[in-house]
Amino acid sequence: MGQERKMLWSGRFAQGAADETLAFTSSLAVDRRLARYDILGSLAHARMLARQGVIAPEDGERIVDGLKKLYAQAESGALAIDPKLEDIHSNVELLLTSMIEDAGARLHTGRSRNDQVATDLRMWQRDAVLETMEAIYELEHVLMERASDNVEVIMPGFTHVQHAQPISLAHHLMAHFQRLARDAERFAQCYRRTNVSPLGSAALAGTTFNIDRLYTADMLAFDAPCANSLDGVSDRDFVAEYLFAASLCAVHLSSMCEELVYWSSPEFGFVDIDDAHSTGSSIMPQKKNPDVAELTRGRAGAAIGDLVNMLCTLKSLPLSYNRDLQEDKAALFACHDRTVSCLRLAAAMVAAMRFDKERMLAATRDGFLNATDLADYLVTKGLPFRRAHEAVGAAVRYCIEQGKRLEELTLDELRSFSELVEEDVFSVLPVERCVLRRMSVGGTSPNVIPMQFSQGMSALRKQSEMFQNERARLRSAYQRLLDRGTPNGKSLV
Ligand code: ARG
Repeated sequence: MGQERKMLWSGRFAQGAADETLAFTSSLAVDRRLARYDILGSLAHARMLARQGVIAPEDGERIVDGLKKLYAQAESGALAIDPKLEDIHSNVELLLTSMIEDAGARLHTGRSRNDQVATDLRMWQRDAVLETMEAIYELEHVLMERASDNVEVIMPGFTHVQHAQPISLAHHLMAHFQRLARDAERFAQCYRRTNVSPLGSAALAGTTFNIDRLYTADMLAFDAPCANSLDGVSDRDFVAEYLFAASLCAVHLSSMCEELVYWSSPEFGFVDIDDAHSTGSSIMPQKKNPDVAELTRGRAGAAIGDLVNMLCTLKSLPLSYNRDLQEDKAALFACHDRTVSCLRLAAAMVAAMRFDKERMLAATRDGFLNATDLADYLVTKGLPFRRAHEAVGAAVRYCIEQGKRLEELTLDELRSFSELVEEDVFSVLPVERCVLRRMSVGGTSPNVIPMQFSQGMSALRKQSEMFQNERARLRSAYQRLLDRGTPNGKSLV
């Protein structure tokens, strides 16, 4: 039979649970990361209880003092966590009780671990979202910087991994920027739905005590208390949203890294990934492999796995709290750590890699990248586009037979496909002209790419304001919780 250790809930039981059961149900290995949020949440709860007269001012005072000590220990890594206890909440409460006895035993009045863990996790996720947004910001920043240095660099643009039309390297890099900008926006929206306080939902139905949920929400810098206590203890939409935003971001990174893997192959030779972000082979002495790009590409699978894991856990769960919900944290923590490290490495890799501009330009010579431009030329001479497409298709076939490029055909050869061709055709065929003339909004012309830079700059400014302001707001709210005088009623207001 199980050990005799006193659990928070041991009163109801004649014997302790089996050791196997305790090990099986424990979440401590994962949720110890919540320690500081658990203590801050308890501080807000204790101050509120004292302020409302639910507990005596002296008890409130002792609880707050004890929690402050525990907070300092948690911050310095010195919190004496007992690995045998079920979770971090039990640890904090029992440490407090061993310090101040009965006063500590009053902390859990009008509260349950169900609203407590949901509150802690939302507080943790606020910081996680801000950290993820900052890591996205860094990569966006690097992409924009590299793009602004390479506006005039011409490379083949691809569809179906086949040569399509020539583009500016900057344009390609900014396409990756746009994806990340949407990721950042998604995380900002996820933040808003995360920032709601379940504290005071208690086990599921609210509480008979005269608590003040607006006050605790405000003290913990939440936008508002959640409206329904059943929903408060069971809602993990915010976790699923984080995991979705992270999965899509990981998919974006995998797409970019896939390109870098083959761009760095000798067949492409578009980019040289820095030694700092490459590794070698244990048998082939000559090898330099793009492992950072490959692992980032590969780890997208784990992010999607975390998302599916969470959705499957939530699927068919009845209201309200069910122990299944404990599984949310492992997926969320792992996904967050992985997402941030992938983003940071990607930023360093993109910042340091070298583009081979000559190789890129040389690659535009073959594959008839200017075929659309020849068709467009015929349209400007009056030919319906479908006819022009057909004529240029025939010209391309002729070029393939002759081993020539379109721009190498003579005027007479070109005229054999359409009478409308004149001498000025040669001004539209060079790839530089193909790129320059694509000036439609969002196009690849160096004349319009700067529009993307100015829009991108203002998106970046908005993002950094958000994570900096929010961080400052949270920091000062937490500081207020820790600094305030003893909770003798009025001084708490
Ligand atoms: N470790 C639990 C979790 O993460 C805390 C809540 C436990 N509540 C309960 N009724 N057993 O969900």
